[in-house]
Amino acid sequence: MSINIAIDGPAGAGKSTIAKRVAEKLSFIYVDTGAMYRAMALYMLRGRVDIKDEAAVTDMCSNVHVGITYEDGEQRVLLNEEDVSGLIRSEEVGNAASAVAVYSAVRAKLLELQQSLARTHNVVMDGRDIGSAVLPGAQVKIYLTASVHTRAERRYKELVKKGESPDIQVIEQDIIDRDYQDMHRKISPLCQAEDAVLIDSSRLSIDGVVDRILNIYKERCC
Ligand code: CDP
Repeated sequence: MSINIAIDGPAGAGKSTIAKRVAEKLSFIYVDTGAMYRAMALYMLRGRVDIKDEAAVTDMCSNVHVGITYEDGEQRVLLNEEDVSGLIRSEEVGNAASAVAVYSAVRAKLLELQQSLARTHNVVMDGRDIGSAVLPGAQVKIYLTASVHTRAERRYKELVKKGESPDIQVIEQDIIDRDYQDMHRKISPLCQAEDAVLIDSSRLSIDGVVDRILNIYKERCC
């Protein structure tokens, strides 16, 4: 049986950095489910679909195929066979991902892919609903969060590093809006699974969080 580690939490809590490191340490594969939602969103944006129109988005879902592959250990996201990994990281695509993630047709499409990966591989999977809906039987479940201010600062620094000149207040408001949208949607809202361990990373280093998760893994799985 494969071992599954689920890491959920709001935007900017550090899930992807942490999940990647935990996966590396354990030689598991890292599955970034947010990237799958982003690829779906890119498809809708390219098709000029009104993302507020559920029927139109649902219609488009029948022609889209999202897949993932690994190159030198890095996850690459495929949209109808095209590698879109470099195109899905903008704030525009992130916000659109959060908007299309409320629709059941979008979630059903990606759920299948996520569950089949976890059945056949040892995975560290991060997202919003992994412990609560995608992998309810995961051996380790983490709910990783941090204050809005800390998360906005982290996002700000990331964007500055990329050469952009963001406005911290806009980022903070985007985070508040995205949290609200993710926590209040009807299907698979962002929430802490009953059996998930809560880690607040506001005052913890990356290594500190990684070590805590590895210790929980050792207690449960070794
Ligand atoms: O990197 P960031 O935390 O900004 O977002 P992400 O993990 O790339 O996910 C983008 C959006 O996809 C989120 O705001 C969620 O609305 C949605 N998502 C989801 O609904 N369920 C997941 N398992 C992962 C992402």
